[in-house]
Formats: sequence, structure tokens, C-alpha cells
Amino acid sequence: MRKLILITMIAMVLAFALVGVASANGGPHGGYTATTDACAGCHRAHTASGAKLLVAADTTALCFTCHGSNATGSVLNVTDGVLEATAGSNAGTALNGGGFGFYNGSATTSSHDTSGAATDAWGNGGGRGVASALAGGASLTCASCHDPHGSSNYRILKTTVNNTTIAVAQVDEGAQTYDSEQWGTGQSNICAACHNDYHITAAGSGSDVAGLAATGGTAHRIGMPWNGDAGTAAYIGMGTANPETSGFGGYTLPLAETGTNDTVECQTCHLPHGTSSAMTGFAASNGSVAGDSVLLRLNNRGVCEVCHQK
Ligand code: HEC
Ligand code: HEC
Ligand code: HEC
Ligand code: HEC
Ligand code: HEC
Ligand code: HEC
Repeated sequence: MRKLILITMIAMVLAFALVGVASANGGPHGGYTATTDACAGCHRAHTASGAKLLVAADTTALCFTCHGSNATGSVLNVTDGVLEATAGSNAGTALNGGGFGFYNGSATTSSHDTSGAATDAWGNGGGRGVASALAGGASLTCASCHDPHGSSNYRILKTTVNNTTIAVAQVDEGAQTYDSEQWGTGQSNICAACHNDYHITAAGSGSDVAGLAATGGTAHRIGMPWNGDAGTAAYIGMGTANPETSGFGGYTLPLAETGTNDTVECQTCHLPHGTSSAMTGFAASNGSVAGDSVLLRLNNRGVCEVCHQK
């Protein structure tokens, strides 16, 4: 009996914690009460304009009614990649995800195509540099990555993406201010759900010719401490400056916060929405996507120099 009471108490504490998580989603995304008004912001029962009874033509168009340029529904303007003027003291700060139209005031040079036209992702089972169809032939929209009804994940990222279960935690934030990255170790799992062949985590993978030939050749390791495993920094040829706190030449890169040995995630080098980085010279052609900046955070190969400082 005492055991049962204890279990009931634990269950109640857990239930309370979950409610807390849901209400941290912000805006109309989740934490709904039994008599919520939120559904009516996005759905109409008899007079909707788009599929799934949406008040806009499609999912992405709906998101932009609140998250587009000068939209009044949210301070998060993902078109221009900034916090809107109404965000108060943070107004004008670049968004952590980048921008779909502009980033840092310049037009984007690559972005995830959320128009509904894209169906194939690089490294989705066919090897790196090869694009294959998403599960069920689905097309990429904002709702491929985010759940408009809220989620237990960081930034309402979906718990199932491309048929893959995803858990990505939010760390260190407290009040949501959207002015610094708050993702933790394992954030790469969201990218790996569609680009799994790029998620190479074994030490020495950059020289593992035989082991990785079948998936596209040797690959830069992901998910390791920024300066390598203990004792390997000199061998790899690392700079001594922490890329997140000190950086190089005025540039920094975000790392997953783990307290010590902060780790490298896909988002250390790439922005999830879009970037305005310029690619010239040797950097102009990127793997499979010629003449595109492949969502890289910094111009050319600035990302390499922040860590290796050659
Ligand atoms: C912020 C906008 C938004 C709000 C608020 C919202 N929805 Fe949705 N809902 C969507 C979008 C967008 C889709 C389609 C997602 C997609 O493209 O896969 C959707 C899809 C659905 C679906 C289809 C199944 C699914 O989950 O894809 C149901 C049912 C649904 N919503 C019910 C509700 C109810 C009930 C509420 C209120 C509690 C609500 N929605 C609030 C945006 C919203
Ligand atoms: C009716 C307006 C409205 C619509 C439509 C809307 N949002 Fe939001 N969204 C908000 C508000 C409000 C916030 C909270 C931030 C703020 O106060 O501006 C928010 C926050 C978010 C966040 C941050 C969540 C977090 O954990 O802090 C994401 C991600 C997001 N929205 C994605 C979407 C996507 C994707 C769609 C389309 C499916 C969408 N939104 C549609 C109003 C909206
Ligand atoms: C490929 C997956 C993916 C797609 C597609 C995507 N997002 Fe995001 N989004 C993310 C990730 C990851 C973050 C967290 C960025 C960070 O904190 O570093 C994010 C963050 C956000 C935020 C919070 C502000 C910010 O930039 O941090 C909003 C709002 C948002 N997304 C809306 C949208 C809308 C609207 C669309 C469609 C036009 C969209 N997202 C498409 C992955 C995606
Ligand atoms: C839901 C599936 C999905 C997820 C999740 C996803 N992607 Fe993609 N990604 C795609 C598809 C489809 C394309 C090809 C169409 C396009 O360019 O948007 C693509 C394209 C790209 C490109 C090439 C873009 C260009 O046009 O140059 C890069 C780089 C990329 N993704 C990186 C990432 C990273 C980093 C993450 C995690 C933050 C991520 N992706 C998450 C589906 C996904
Ligand atoms: C966030 C820090 C960071 C960034 C950014 C970075 N690297 Fe590395 N790099 C490392 C670490 C740590 C290792 C060691 C990986 C291991 O343990 O196998 C490494 C390994 C390497 C190796 C040796 C691979 C081997 O196995 O022999 C080369 C070459 C390399 N990086 C080149 C690059 C290039 C080119 C770029 C830019 C596209 C880049 N790195 C960006 C941290 C970084
Ligand atoms: C150390 C920096 C770095 C990290 C970390 C990183 N990438 Fe990349 N990524 C690049 C560079 C540089 C390119 C440009 C092409 C090249 O050099 O291979 C690229 C290109 C891409 C492309 C475009 C297709 C292609 O082959 O050119 C995709 C998709 C991609 N990366 C996905 C990912 C995913 C998923 C992760 C995490 C599992 C990730 N990247 C982590 C630096 C990085």
C-alpha cells in the first residue's frame, strides 16, 4: 500500500512536470485547456482555406501569418531571421535558426525549402551526397520539424520526424528569450532523422577510408568534444581557443552545453532555417549542391578555422 501511494505521488509529480513543459512552448503551441480558444487561431470547422481545416492555404503559409516579416502574431520573424521590434530589449537580435529570406540583413544564399516542393533529403539512407525520398514521399514543410500543437522537445521540435523518434532537450534557459542557443547534446538527432548518413560519430572517421567507403568516403566526426578526446588535440591539429567563448578572428560557433567538453553538433556548423553566408573560390561548389552555401554559418570555410586555426 505504501508502495502504491509512493507510485501515485511520483506519477502526480511527473504529470505536473509534463504540464510545466507543455506550457513552456509559448504562444498558441500547446499547453491547451479543455476549453481553449487556440484551435480557432489556426483551424475553422466549416470555412477553412486549406487542407487540415487550416485558415491559410497550407501549413507553411499559416506559420508565416504569425512568423513572417512584420507579422503581429509573434516576435519571432523567421523570414528576416530577427526578433521583431515588439520583442523589447532583444529587438533586432538575429534568430538562432537563421532566416528563410534574410539573415544578418542580407538575402539568404541557402535555406531548407519549406514550400512543399522538396521531397528528397541527402543522406536519407542512400549514402552521403545522395538524395532519397522522405518517409511516405512526404514533402518538407515547417511541420516536418515542428509540432504546432506543442512538444516536450526544444522549440516544439516534433517527437517523430521522418518516422524516427526524437528527443532533444532544452538546457539552461529559464524564461524563453530566443537570443542564444539553448540546445544540448543530441541536438544532431533532429538532423539525423532525415540525413542519417551524415551522422558519423566514431573517433578517427576522418581517416577511416575502408570503413566508410560504402556511405560516401571518410567523414568529419560529429558529437565529440570541440577539441577532440582527451590528449588528442595536438595530434588532430587544434587551436587552443574555445570556439564558442573565444572563437577566432571575431567569429564563434555554438556548442551543445554539457558543462565540460562541450560537444560539436550539426548546428555547430549549420543553421537549421537558412543562411546568408557567401561561398567563393574553392568553397563555391559544395558537395552535391553546386553554387549553394549549404546552410553553413560562416563565409567560405570560416567554420573550419574557428576550431583548427591553421
Ligand atoms: C498554431 C496553429 C495551430 C493551432 C493553434 C492548432 N493547430 Fe491543429 N494543426 C495545425 C497545422 C499546421 C496542422 C497540419 C500539420 C501538418 O501539416 O502536418 C494541424 C493539424 C491538426 C490535426 C490533424 C492531425 C495532425 O495532428 O496533424 C488536428 C486533428 C488538429 N490540428 C487539431 C487541433 C486542435 C483540436 C487544436 C486546438 C486544441 C489545434 N489543432 C490547434 C496548426 C494548429
Ligand atoms: C496565431 C499566431 C501563430 C501561428 C499561426 C504560429 N505561431 Fe508559432 N508562435 C506564436 C507565438 C505567439 C509564439 C511565442 C513567441 C512570441 O511570443 O512571439 C510562437 C512560438 C513558436 C516557436 C518557439 C516555441 C518555443 O518552444 O519557444 C516555434 C518553433 C514556432 N512558434 C513555430 C511555428 C510553426 C512551425 C508554425 C506553423 C505550423 C507556427 N509557429 C504558427 C504564434 C504563432
Ligand atoms: C529542418 C528542420 C526545420 C524546419 C523545416 C523548420 N525549422 Fe524552425 N527551427 C528548427 C530548429 C532546429 C530550431 C532551433 C534553432 C536554435 O535554437 O538553434 C528552430 C527554431 C524555430 C523558431 C524559434 C526562433 C529561432 O530561430 O530560434 C521558430 C519561430 C521556428 N523555428 C519557426 C519555423 C517556421 C515558421 C518554419 C517554416 C517556414 C520552420 N521553423 C521550419 C528546425 C526547423
Ligand atoms: C524532415 C526532414 C529534414 C530534417 C529534419 C532536416 N533536413 Fe536538411 N534537408 C531536407 C530536405 C528534403 C532537403 C533538400 C531540399 C532543400 O534544400 O531544402 C534538405 C537539405 C539540406 C541541406 C542542403 C541545403 C541546400 O539547399 O543547400 C543541408 C546542408 C541540410 N539539409 C542540413 C540539415 C541540418 C543541419 C539539419 C538539422 C538542423 C537538417 N538538415 C534537418 C530534409 C530535412
Ligand atoms: C567545432 C570544432 C571543429 C570544427 C568547426 C571543425 N573541426 Fe575538424 N576536427 C575537430 C575535432 C575535435 C577533430 C577530431 C575528430 C576525431 O576525434 O576523430 C577534427 C578532425 C579533423 C580532421 C582529421 C580527421 C582524421 O580523422 O584524421 C580534419 C582533416 C579536419 N578536422 C578538418 C576540418 C575541416 C576541413 C573543417 C571545416 C569543414 C573542420 N575540420 C571543422 C574539430 C572541428
Ligand atoms: C564541422 C562542420 C560541420 C558539421 C559539424 C556538420 N557539417 Fe554538414 N557540411 C559541412 C560543410 C563544410 C559542407 C559542404 C560540403 C562538404 O565540404 O562536404 C556540408 C554539407 C552538408 C550537406 C549538403 C550536402 C553535401 O554533401 O554537400 C548536408 C545535407 C549536411 N552537411 C548535413 C549535415 C548533418 C546532418 C550534420 C550533423 C550530423 C552535419 N552536416 C554536420 C560542415 C559541417
